[in-house]
Amino acid sequence: MQLTIDSDNNTLFCKDAEGERHMPLYCDEAFKIISNLWVKAGWNAKYLYTFSWMGRPIIQFPEDLVRVQEMIFQLKPDVILETGVAHGGSLIFYASLFEAMRCKGRVIGIDIEIRPHNRAEIEAHPLFDRITLIEGSSVDTETLQKAHALIAPGQKVLVILDSNHLRDHVRAELEAYCDLVCPGSYIVATDGVMREVADIPRGTPSWIDDNPSTAAREFAEAHPEFELTEPPFTFNESTLDFQITHWPGAWLRRR
Ligand SMILES: C[S@@+](CC[C@H](N)C(=O)[O-])C[C@H]1O[C@@H](n2cnc3c(N)ncnc32)[C@H](O)[C@@H]1O
Repeated sequence: MQLTIDSDNNTLFCKDAEGERHMPLYCDEAFKIISNLWVKAGWNAKYLYTFSWMGRPIIQFPEDLVRVQEMIFQLKPDVILETGVAHGGSLIFYASLFEAMRCKGRVIGIDIEIRPHNRAEIEAHPLFDRITLIEGSSVDTETLQKAHALIAPGQKVLVILDSNHLRDHVRAELEAYCDLVCPGSYIVATDGVMREVADIPRGTPSWIDDNPSTAAREFAEAHPEFELTEPPFTFNESTLDFQITHWPGAWLRRR
């Protein structure tokens, strides 16, 4: 893609696979093009490795945290199950939303390796009473048995997949956890941004196909009881109809 931003004359020129376009710099389409490039530049600069939530590093794009908060407030799940714990920031984030909503919600975090210093910090956190940690691969039988045993029949579960983001692993996770999701709730295959960043210095060319969005699309084709659908804006006084996100093609809603 070639981009020419002319902020003296307020125009943007874009040449890409869709052809050549001139447009006003301050239009929605220009915002989308510039934002998507900013997402790629930020990903390369490890921008998302600069945040924490209530004391724990959180490896998430802040835009996605606000969007998932919108969904959680609407859905009010009983349980949020997340694969991929790392430093625990996202578990604390979900627990803090439950605390702020004054509901009983619990958070289950699964990781193949919970490093001792991370475990110690998570267990010492004031919100740990809402969190259960399971150490093991997210697709191992024993892990699945432990996770399922923590969830009572009829509970409303939101599943967020943020562990190994390669297509086959995400596809296996989707198959392993989809039965926990009741109608109206979601299973979210995060980090489809891998497809968009395949061609940048820190990217990997195979991510063009080997990514969570591909896994989610294939899963939706095989499971008509799920639809791939991004939650609509809960508030929008703009003319924008797209999100700036690391989670494109992520949201699988059970019909
Ligand atoms: C992107 S980090 C998770 C970030 C975290 N959710 C947050 O927002 O801060 C990915 C994590 O997935 C874990 N992981 C990788 N493969 C896994 C697997 N097969 N099962 C479970 N966890 C895995 C890694 O150990 C790593 O901690």
